[in-house]
Amino acid sequence: MCGIVGYVGRTTAVQPLLKGLKKLEYRGYDSAGIAVVEPHLQVYKTQGRIADLEALFTKGVPQGTLGIGHTRWATHGQPSWENAHPHCDCSEEIAVVHNGIIENYLELRKELEAEGHVFRSETDTEVVSHLVEKYYEGDLGCAVQAAIAQLIGSYALAVVSSRHPNELIAVRQDSPLVIGVGEEEYILASDVPALLDFTRTAWVLDDGQVARITRESVVVFDQHGEQQKPQTIRINWDPVQAEKEGYAHFMLKEIHEQPRAIRQTLAGRLGVRGNLQLAEEIPADLLHGITDVHLIACGTAYHAALYGAYLLQDSTDLQVHAELASEYRYKRVRVDDRTLAIAISQSGETADTLGAIRKAKAAGARILAITNVVGSTLAREADAVMYTHAGPEIAVASTKAYTAQLCCLGLLAAYVQLHLRGAYDPELLRQLLEIPDQMASILQACEERVKEYAGQRLAAASDTFYLGRGLDLASAMEGQLKLKEIAYVHAEALPAGELKHGTLALIEPGVPIVALATQPHLLDKLLSNLREVKARNGEVFLIAMDGERDYSQTADEVLLVPPTHPMLAPLLTALPMQLMAYYAATARGHDVDKPRNLAKSVTVE
Ligand code: F6R
Repeated sequence: MCGIVGYVGRTTAVQPLLKGLKKLEYRGYDSAGIAVVEPHLQVYKTQGRIADLEALFTKGVPQGTLGIGHTRWATHGQPSWENAHPHCDCSEEIAVVHNGIIENYLELRKELEAEGHVFRSETDTEVVSHLVEKYYEGDLGCAVQAAIAQLIGSYALAVVSSRHPNELIAVRQDSPLVIGVGEEEYILASDVPALLDFTRTAWVLDDGQVARITRESVVVFDQHGEQQKPQTIRINWDPVQAEKEGYAHFMLKEIHEQPRAIRQTLAGRLGVRGNLQLAEEIPADLLHGITDVHLIACGTAYHAALYGAYLLQDSTDLQVHAELASEYRYKRVRVDDRTLAIAISQSGETADTLGAIRKAKAAGARILAITNVVGSTLAREADAVMYTHAGPEIAVASTKAYTAQLCCLGLLAAYVQLHLRGAYDPELLRQLLEIPDQMASILQACEERVKEYAGQRLAAASDTFYLGRGLDLASAMEGQLKLKEIAYVHAEALPAGELKHGTLALIEPGVPIVALATQPHLLDKLLSNLREVKARNGEVFLIAMDGERDYSQTADEVLLVPPTHPMLAPLLTALPMQLMAYYAATARGHDVDKPRNLAKSVTVE
């Protein structure tokens, strides 16, 4: 989820490209670059800020009126000058910028290298520039069309060539791209904020469409070469709204991004037939001979660790523990060279998590990192890394990074099972492929209801309880943390079976209780716990999966999530709970994206 801009028009391209890139800075990036045709291809890149890129032009600006630019958020390969976009072909006549993930890039790269193409970066993107070079026969648009026919994955691409000084080719598949329409100029962008200083009229490309953009016109084709009429939109957002794609807060935008984020997490790792491809990321010697697994994390990532521990315990004979990093660092633990320590961290910079893995590593453990940030300290110190690929998470409260962590852990549990037992549960992986669509349907179906409940009930509460059993307990813990951290309402998560050992004393008429019921083997037990709550007139909002059951005696409100494998239910139940926290916080008038006393990356002990 990087940022793309492109320009073709009357003025020199550098200024509009830099201006557009600056508007995308809010998304987070690790490097940036632009390519301008004048008449040869000139490429400028930096591992750093846009200001550093701008500084490359202090001695003069190329006069070319065609160019492309990019802010990179690393997915394949470390943040570095070489890996920054644009990427060129062998002859340095073609330049490409890309958002998304090319799933089959390794295969393509091998083929292209065997044909003599020389690669200069570790990125998946570079295969595109070489494919365009391979298929180029005088028509850039046709070469791009032939190149994308080879790609599996998601992409938004902008391509220029020094042989076509008035032509910008753009194409998209599962990754947004809009063309801003000006007076004898067009600006291409992955995100609306980059357009707003130029125009309010834009054309939106659809999946599979290729646009041939010149100073004079834009011609759009579909996969079959048939000319298409692009869809025109009028943008009414102000610049601040545009950064959030029209959502009131980044948190809400990121909640809604989860179907896309999970598709990205799965991309290249799980084939359509449910086949697992993780050997590149998790080498066999990382798992060979392990007896113990320690999943180490803080906050929301710790709740993902609880989830991962449950899955690994359920599917292997390993000794598995979820550990809070701040505790692990200072307690006596049995850890040696048969231990696999899995550190989970969105930022990859959390001080406690780093301290804990350094301790495990010093005792001989092998370290696997699950993180969202390529090149983070955790990623660099680990023996192997599984990236969550959720895209930059800007809101302080973690939402899409959390469900992407769960997704990685689901894949990992199946992979460990395969490695240790020679087989895994194919149904779990088959159902995992359905999760993005199911998330989208939950968001569509439940938002208004959850908003009303959260605004009226949770926002007004002083104490709330989140109940679950088994895997639902880990989800309940995440639900209560979200409510505390952004709505500042006290919440406590409890194993439902523990209520009767004391806490039931706090259940009084009207106390809001959010309960989770997705684990079939624990459903009867959970419902009988809820009867105890109802007997004290507690007010239960139940998130359940089994639509056949009668919940009338146990819940005041029931929200059903679509049926899935019980081990995957936490990926779905997270969404209504995130929305509950969000709408309780907004009803209380809080600055949701910057909650008090919490930083996005906690780099102190
Ligand atoms: C909650 C939240 C924190 C983080 C925790 C760990 O929404 O954001 O609880 O989950 O500080 O951060 P990472 O995952 O960056 O290690």
